[in-house]
Amino acid sequence: MPAFRLAPSILSADFSRLGEEVNHVLTAGADWIHFDVMDNHYVPNLTVGPLVCQALRPHANKNGQPAPIDVHLMVKPVDALILAFAKAGADFISFHPEASEHIDRSLGLIREHGALAGLALNPATPLTVLEHVLDRLDLVLLMSVNPGFGGQSFIPHTLTKLRQTRALLDAYTEKTGRKILLEIDGGVKIDNIAEIATAGADTFVFGSAIFGQPNYADVIRDMRAQLATTSVVR
Ligand code: DX5
Ligand code: ZN
Repeated sequence: MPAFRLAPSILSADFSRLGEEVNHVLTAGADWIHFDVMDNHYVPNLTVGPLVCQALRPHANKNGQPAPIDVHLMVKPVDALILAFAKAGADFISFHPEASEHIDRSLGLIREHGALAGLALNPATPLTVLEHVLDRLDLVLLMSVNPGFGGQSFIPHTLTKLRQTRALLDAYTEKTGRKILLEIDGGVKIDNIAEIATAGADTFVFGSAIFGQPNYADVIRDMRAQLATTSVVR
């Protein structure tokens, strides 16, 4: 598994050509596809559902292999959509703890239906929500913007939260030998990705930094060049 993973978010893609966009960004060197699901209830925006994930599944390939579809549920309630997205081919499914009536049960549902489980933490959500569920987690998704829209600015205090989360996950790995991925989401750009990696992220979501740009391969190359300047190894 590469040390760092790049996960372009479809939210900023051209929705009239979504299959092409997914194929294009993976061919340009991205590792995952970040699939933002918004229900205009948990967040004040509305995007797409499991049908679109299912339609994209055959287009999300890299080097002839299916590339991970990383579903970010900004919805409430979550459980029915967990089942629907697992069936639609999601590889990772993350939800916001505030949106579930029973976090442990929702995390269990994800894994029982063959996907890897993540919790998405808003900027104001404390890390204590992770304390009793680390064994149920494959991914922690730290929001560096308040969820709902692409193109927002990175919230600087997220760097401190990243360092704290990295310490928590490294201690867990030390104790159990099991790795939990640490994904950052919101306002990630070429000019801040190195600092974000140094603070502790190993997986990077970015939407407006790539979609709409003239050359996707140039963006991926520049992001990886910035990551190569960090001394951290994840
Ligand atoms: C926001 C979404 C993010 C967003 C990232 O609620 O969860 O994934 O699409 O977009 P940028 O990189 O433009 O901030
Ligand atoms: Zn997202």
